[in-house]
Amino acid sequence: MISRDRTAWLQGGEAVCLQTPPDVSRTWRLVLLGAPGAGKGTQAQLLTSALGACPLSTGDVFRAARDNPKRAGAAIAAAQTFMARGELVPDSVVLDLIRERNRCLHCRGGFMLDGFPRTLPQARALDALLAAEKLRLDAVIYFEVTPELLLARLTGRRVCTRCQAVFHIQNRPSRIDGVCDQCGGALEQRADDRPEAIAVRLDAYRKITMPLLEHYRSQGLLVPVRAEGEPAEILARTLDALVMHEAR
Ligand code: AP5
Repeated sequence: MISRDRTAWLQGGEAVCLQTPPDVSRTWRLVLLGAPGAGKGTQAQLLTSALGACPLSTGDVFRAARDNPKRAGAAIAAAQTFMARGELVPDSVVLDLIRERNRCLHCRGGFMLDGFPRTLPQARALDALLAAEKLRLDAVIYFEVTPELLLARLTGRRVCTRCQAVFHIQNRPSRIDGVCDQCGGALEQRADDRPEAIAVRLDAYRKITMPLLEHYRSQGLLVPVRAEGEPAEILARTLDALVMHEAR
């Protein structure tokens, strides 16, 4: 599987990516929407191989900051407290993070925003930022999953502490128990994958993030994809849906 170096995104500031972006025949600029556990991160990894676009996850930036709080700055480091409880990080912190990394939106390999935007003020701020940068989104992919499946996916998830690759104890186990297949890093359960934090996250998703569906539907950007079945099947469905969306 092809992965993209995301140093500029994960570290912000003056940091630069260690690899040059791939030569792509088409630059995709996408948003990935869906409930916690819908498989956005998993599909982002697969879509990177298929389209070349870089997966820009706000959650990954906050998790990377946990290991290097000094470099991340006080506001981003403080986000850990909100995350561990399953609550959303304040819009002001998230929007500062995005503005500080806005050069990633110009990456010639394209991008997939994963986990951002998640509130209407964030979505409106993204609209304004893209307009100011003379960029436009190609589509907002909405991964739809039933609530029962979400719970099973979240409680069995394990994440690499070094490269953030995502595994699942039943659906996608690593070759060696507790060790990342991609980089050899240690796998761990996320603090917000405990049942009490999951309940808070799902509630925030229903009340605060779901209104974004209408925001993007009204802009003609929403591309719903049924996100059940094998990851490869979902990828194929997503690519088909993007082709149909482009042909409209
Ligand atoms: P974030 O990191 O964005 O988490 P999330 O949106 O809750 O989404 P997840 O990462 O939990 O799930 P996913 O959809 O990526 O699923 P995955 O592919 O891993 O945010 C975390 C926190 O950061 C937030 O709660 C908040 O505090 C803060 N935050 C971040 N952005 C913010 C913002 N913009 N505003 C405010 N706060 C913000 O899959 C899940 C599991 O299922 C894995 O184990 C995977 O292997 C398995 N799986 C995936 N697909 C399949 C499949 N098809 N079949 C079987 N198993 C599968």
